[in-house]
Parts: sequence; structure tokens; C-alpha cells
Amino acid sequence: MFIVTPGCGTAPGLTGAPTGTARCGTPARRYNGTSVEKTFYIETFGCQMNAHDSEKVAGTLIAQGYRQVPTVEEAGYVFYNTCSIRDKAEQKVFNRLQPFKRHHEGKVFAVIGCVAQQEGEKIFERAPHVSLVAGSASYTKLPEMLVQLETGNKRVTGLSLDTEDTFDTPFTRRDNPHRAYITIIEGCDKKCAYCVVPFTRGPERSRTSASVLEEARRLADSGYTEIQLLGQNVNSYRDPSAAGWDFADLLDAVGGVPGIRRVRFTTSHPRDFVKRIIDAIDANPNLCNHVHLPVQSGSTRVLGAMQRLYTREKYMERIAWMKAARRPIAITSDIIVGFPGETEQEFQETLDLLDAVQYDSIFSFKYSPRPNTPALGLPDQISEEEKTRRLTMVQEKQRAIQIRLNADLVGQVEEVNVEGRNDALGLWLGRTSRNRTLGFLHPNGEPKVGEYLDIRVTRGGPNALVGEALPAGGNRSGVN
Ligand code: SAH
Ligand code: SF4
Ligand code: F3S
Repeated sequence: MFIVTPGCGTAPGLTGAPTGTARCGTPARRYNGTSVEKTFYIETFGCQMNAHDSEKVAGTLIAQGYRQVPTVEEAGYVFYNTCSIRDKAEQKVFNRLQPFKRHHEGKVFAVIGCVAQQEGEKIFERAPHVSLVAGSASYTKLPEMLVQLETGNKRVTGLSLDTEDTFDTPFTRRDNPHRAYITIIEGCDKKCAYCVVPFTRGPERSRTSASVLEEARRLADSGYTEIQLLGQNVNSYRDPSAAGWDFADLLDAVGGVPGIRRVRFTTSHPRDFVKRIIDAIDANPNLCNHVHLPVQSGSTRVLGAMQRLYTREKYMERIAWMKAARRPIAITSDIIVGFPGETEQEFQETLDLLDAVQYDSIFSFKYSPRPNTPALGLPDQISEEEKTRRLTMVQEKQRAIQIRLNADLVGQVEEVNVEGRNDALGLWLGRTSRNRTLGFLHPNGEPKVGEYLDIRVTRGGPNALVGEALPAGGNRSGVN
């Protein structure tokens, strides 16, 4: 779920840009009396929302005549799209911005994303060579901000969270020509006691269903077959137009767009997760049988202190819906250990919940105290050492579960979407509908990236499966 992606120099899937706007060898601009190349480098930290934001930022820059380059050294403008979900994530950007690095000379630095929104103008104090600080709600204003920079403004900020038009970014330079993100809802109205997102991304704003479907159709027309619907809490999606759709309605409709073979969505909040989502997955094979439903803790008392708005029992009710589905649904989760006041007994309840659910995979984290959040002031903070012990226990238990679940898949046939090749392993790589990585041999030729193939699973490890491609039209018994 968490990624660090340096941008690449090419522009596959540039959508919406007027023809001829993405130019190479663009002229240098004057900046503070120094010449700055109209080239940019962008590095992304954090979640899929940030990854997609970077695609929008890159598209906007390309449309303004900037050229994307793969290294900081080659760039006139350096963008860091930042994450502040945990302290470690936040520190990464300040490491990148350390002064006196040789490659800083003559470049314009921009800090965008969640750290930008959280720290605002304080970033200029910590890193005086930064010229632009902007949160995600201000990206539609980026062209104006760039003009300000190019005309010699030393410091430009975009920190308003009021904007209504975040979705109408007309330019997106997608990283992948087969799989595309679509934002359906921005911000978060939940107030989980540990979380910065409501501060860094502002209140919830849903996009109209017509606009989502229009983008999905446009993507299908240009060859995309997989779509991932994005939001901090997709389940609280409410169509602001007269149609008034909820998330289940939207999911069903996107799954029906001709040409789209896979639809994923992230992230789901258990409180707003309704059974109709499972009914939609059951009814439409284009909807991937994978649900990421972060639980955070197995203890109802801790969930209350976290302000998660559900109990362990309510959560398990949703798990029961998934286990009863017609197609086996992969269930994944996020876990936080060492929330302030979490007792050993309450921690054991989380371990016990892992046994009860049998997640296909999890992301697990040590609680990290964050600025402005209610949990910051709670008593009984757990020591770093203890948090490490609990995290290790969670990860060991989960590893054993995954080894077992993946071993159970040996002999099954899974459809994968081919993602590339791992030369070191000598295997092609694909992803199953249930979001597992499957490395495979292809005895009869070279598969194409983006192609869908049936693979028989021959081996299961803790984090991935290994298999062999079936001959076209081969025996699919055991498909699930
Ligand atoms: N909107 C999503 C999660 C977004 S953040 C949801 O509600 O599920 C992704 C994950 O980071 C969270 O699920 C949580 O497990 C983790 N996280 C968030 N804040 C954290 C903090 N302060 N310390 C440790 N982990 C945190
Ligand atoms: Fe953060 Fe909670 Fe909102 Fe998720 S639902 S983004 S954890 S406040
Ligand atoms: Fe990080 Fe912001 Fe996403 S804090 S997890 S990049 S919403």
C-alpha cells in the first residue's frame, strides 16, 4: 500500500493534454537571476492517493511544457509528494531536503502533499531552499503557482482546503498503461484519534457518479482494463448529483463499463461497509474478489479509544458476510500495535483476531504519535521496545497464516494480469483478482504486459505464489 516512486521520463497514458503540449528540450527559464531548466523530477511517498496525485501533477507540468526526468540531478524543478502518516514517513522528506547537498544548486524545490499541508510555511524555515509548498487540494492551482515561480517569486504556497474542484484536474499522466486510479472521494470526516489525514486532506468531498463513469469509459476506450477506485474511505461515497448513488451503486456501474475487466477499491472503513458491496462483488466477476478492511485492533476497548466507531463484534459481522460470499474473497487489513494504553491482554485480542479472520495479508504498524491528533495527549504511551515486540509477534503470526493460505492454493488455476518480469528469478509476474503476486513460467512464449493469463499454482510462499501458464484454452478445473 505504501510506495516510493521516482518518476520516469516517458509519458504513457497522458490523458487530457492538448496535442503537442508535452515537449522535449524545453527552454530554460530565469529564476532568481539563475537559469532553471524546464525539466522536473517527482518522487512520491505514501498511499495510492498520493501516487495518483503525482500522476495529476506530472500531467499538469507536462501540459505546461515541462519535461519529466528520472533523476534529481537532471531536473530544474524537484517535487517531493510527501506523506505524514507516521513520523518515519515525514522524516524521509526532510532527509531529502538536507541542506548543502551538491545537487541542490540551481534547482527549484517543491514540497507538496500531506507534509506540506501539515507543516505549511514552517517548511521554509526548516529548508530555506524550498520555493513551493502546496497541499493536495491546491493542485488545480499549480499552473498559476508555476507562473509565479517562473517570474521570480521566491516562495509560493497553496494550503487552502476549501477547494471544490479537486477532481477536475484536466491533465493526468498515468504511470501504467493498463491499470488506472480514479479518485471518487477526497478527504476524511472520520476522526480516528491517531490519524493526520483529516488535517492533511480536509473534509470529505465526493465526485459525481457521471464524472467517475465518464473517466472510466475514457480509460477503457484508451485500452485500460483495470481500475482502482480511490478514497480514504470509499464507503462513505455519496454522489452529490441528483442520482444520489452510494458506493455499492457506483462500484456496480464501474464494473459494467465495457472493456473494464477488473475493478478494485481502497480504502474501506468498517463502519460504513454495507453488505450490498459483497452482493455487487458476487454478482459481477469484473469486481475483484478482494476487500481491504482495516481493523487496527482486535480489542473493542482500544477501538473505542481510537474512535474507530465500531466494535470487534461489528467488524466480525462484516468478515462473516465476506466469508459467506459465493466467490472466495481475499481479506486484507491494517493493524496498529501499541496504541496508548493498549494492555497485554488487549494486544492478545489483536493476535486472536488474526487467527479468527485468517487475513490474506496485512500492513502492520507501531503506533506513531502525530501532531494535532487527539491520541497525542493520551496517558500510558507504550515504550518503543514494547511496540517493537508486539509488532514482531503480529508479523510472525501473520506470516504463518499466509504460508498456510498460500499452500492451500497449490493446484488451483488463477487468472493473472501480467505486470512484468523478474529476471533474477527467471519468472514472469502477474497479479490475481485476489491481489496476490504470482510468479510464473511461460513455456510457450513471451506474455505481454497487461495480458490476462490462466496460471496453475505450483508453489506457495509467505508473500507470493509460483506457477506455470496453462496452454491457451487449457484445463481450468479448480478455477476460483
Ligand atoms: N483511511 C484508511 C487508512 C489511511 S492511513 C482507513 O481508515 O483505513 C493507512 C494506515 O496507516 C491506517 O489504516 C493505519 O493502520 C495506519 N496509521 C495511520 N495513522 C497512524 C499512526 N499515527 N501510527 C501508526 N499507524 C498509523
Ligand atoms: Fe485516518 Fe481514520 Fe480517516 Fe482512515 S478513517 S483516513 S484512519 S481518520
Ligand atoms: Fe500519507 Fe497523506 Fe496518504 S498522510 S497515507 S500520503 S493521505
